[in-house]
Amino acid sequence: MKIIKTKNMEELGQKAADWVIEKINEKPDLMMALPTGNTPTLMYQKLVEANKAGKADFSKVKVFNLDEYYGLSSEHPQSFYQYLFKNFYSKINLNKENIEYLHGDTDDPGAEAQRYHNEIQKAGGFDLVILGIGENGHIAFNEPGSSFESKTRLVDLAPETVKRDSSLGIPILPERALTVGISEILSSKEILLLAGKEKKEIIEKAIKNPVTEKIPASVLQKHQNVTVIIEE
Ligand code: GLP
Repeated sequence: MKIIKTKNMEELGQKAADWVIEKINEKPDLMMALPTGNTPTLMYQKLVEANKAGKADFSKVKVFNLDEYYGLSSEHPQSFYQYLFKNFYSKINLNKENIEYLHGDTDDPGAEAQRYHNEIQKAGGFDLVILGIGENGHIAFNEPGSSFESKTRLVDLAPETVKRDSSLGIPILPERALTVGISEILSSKEILLLAGKEKKEIIEKAIKNPVTEKIPASVLQKHQNVTVIIEE
């Protein structure tokens, strides 16, 4: 596991963006899975700037959203789709056909999860998964107790996650979500984990304590190619 420490979130965003640009330059048709949340916002902003300056080309890149609230359509202003579309996809030269996302408003979450799993396989698996981390150690929406064998599925959100998200001003409070599973995250060739200083304690546990399903992010210790960028 490679750890990169940064002085502030501005530097974290820049370092993460530079790291991603390097990967895209190595493999222009990079297949990546992307997170929402406050943590990656500056990275997206820097990637947009790099794209506008001609330093990052997304024309062949394929993106998969990592998760979505169950019950919210992609048009819903609080959906993760809207977050990624507004902050990133709509501002870069991404081919809209290369955006894959979970349909939170599906009537059949089992079928939707299977469809997403199949799309991931069809695209050849992830080259890169970028993750944030929840205060309880969740990655995407794989909450404590998630099986390391899990695939894309419908999950119940942990009470602390629902509580935190409610403080973000989301008027509807979804208590379930569709999320890419831990086995699909682990099958990525490379993983980038981003964390601000408020996540210091959980990051320490995730990277130093024994691997346990109680701290989903601890499973990253089993992966050969993980980079963590953390604000000091
Ligand atoms: C949500 C998302 C996660 C994200 C986490 C942390 O729960 N499902 O993918 O990592 O929030 O968000 P933040 O970066 O805002 O702390």
